[in-house]
Amino acid sequence: MKTKVGVLSAGGDCPGINSTIHWLVYSALDKDLAGGRGMMFDITGILDGWKGLAEMKPDKKESVRRWTMPLDSQVVRTWDRYGGTRLGTSRINPFDPKKDQSETIIENYKKLGLDALVVIGGPNNLGVAYNLSRKGMKIVGIPKTIDRDLSGTDYTLGFDSAVNIITEDIDRLRITAGSHSRVFVVECMGRKAGWLALEAGEAAGVAIILIPEHDFVLERVIDLLKMRWKSGKRYSIVLISEGAKPRGMEEIRERRGQDGFGHYYLGGVGGFLAEQIQKESKLEVRYVALRHLQRGGSPTAYDRRMGRKFGIAAIDMIVNEDFGRMVSFRQGEITSVPLKMALDRLKLVDVEKFYNTKNYKSLEQIL
Ligand code: F6P
Repeated sequence: MKTKVGVLSAGGDCPGINSTIHWLVYSALDKDLAGGRGMMFDITGILDGWKGLAEMKPDKKESVRRWTMPLDSQVVRTWDRYGGTRLGTSRINPFDPKKDQSETIIENYKKLGLDALVVIGGPNNLGVAYNLSRKGMKIVGIPKTIDRDLSGTDYTLGFDSAVNIITEDIDRLRITAGSHSRVFVVECMGRKAGWLALEAGEAAGVAIILIPEHDFVLERVIDLLKMRWKSGKRYSIVLISEGAKPRGMEEIRERRGQDGFGHYYLGGVGGFLAEQIQKESKLEVRYVALRHLQRGGSPTAYDRRMGRKFGIAAIDMIVNEDFGRMVSFRQGEITSVPLKMALDRLKLVDVEKFYNTKNYKSLEQIL
């Protein structure tokens, strides 16, 4: 009898998910490893995240065909080098009080004959995984989110690729900013966490970094830019995280409202800041929101390698019956932690340790 494992990706896509699935399948179906494990696997991809498990009718063949994808080495052979998720994803919350689908998901998991489920998700969806595992589903989690705001792990898939894209895009903007002697306000993602802005800002060497963990003073940002201009610097790049806000103001939300977990979509603070700088100084300002560009493209070498480690580790955990846990990367090593940690506080930037609150940059000291 083969052990039947389902795998799904839930929440925002990111580079590294496909690499994870590639290596998960390769490890699971490796004939040389089967003897030592005393176990053979059958891997099924669930399409569109929790939505697939909730909508499918396991008794109807065409519905199972619609919502699942049998995975073998031939199918996933080239997936490691592609971004996004070939399994598709969705942002539904199975425990949404207005439409609770958790029981259907548990029933469908059983009817599909799954022995275990691998969930590739961020804080919200690994939280769902935890709640389902408490109801008896055998789940292993894999951390992914470009925001890198999940507790219990030093790394989440997609972060490195996003940092690289932001850095490259700023390198491009710098050229045109320099030619026109302009200020460019660049907005990146990250929700409540400033990691993307901080680390891409460091890599790109921007003038000012604004993060959600420290409210900025508008006048100070403008003064810093004027000082740069006076000191002979002809252009400046300000990198602002979508969750950053001026002191005394709320974060700026998008019009499209909330996701399935009740989180408001953020975005637009860069435009607001650009307008204010333009109004209060003689500087010429342009605004670029990188939006989903920073989540697209192919995974960096690092995300491919982390995907490899995470995918292999998930199968090892199933072999060892380490359910209700998430693969984790800590102090340079792969380990695992209870899924419950996904429900802990978000991992945010420690301002004292990493951020210069006077000049709005990374701290010039390693503490
Ligand atoms: O959580 C990842 C993330 O990319 C956030 O940085 C961003 O706020 C959000 O997802 C965007 O969500 P969506 O892809 O649904 O627009």
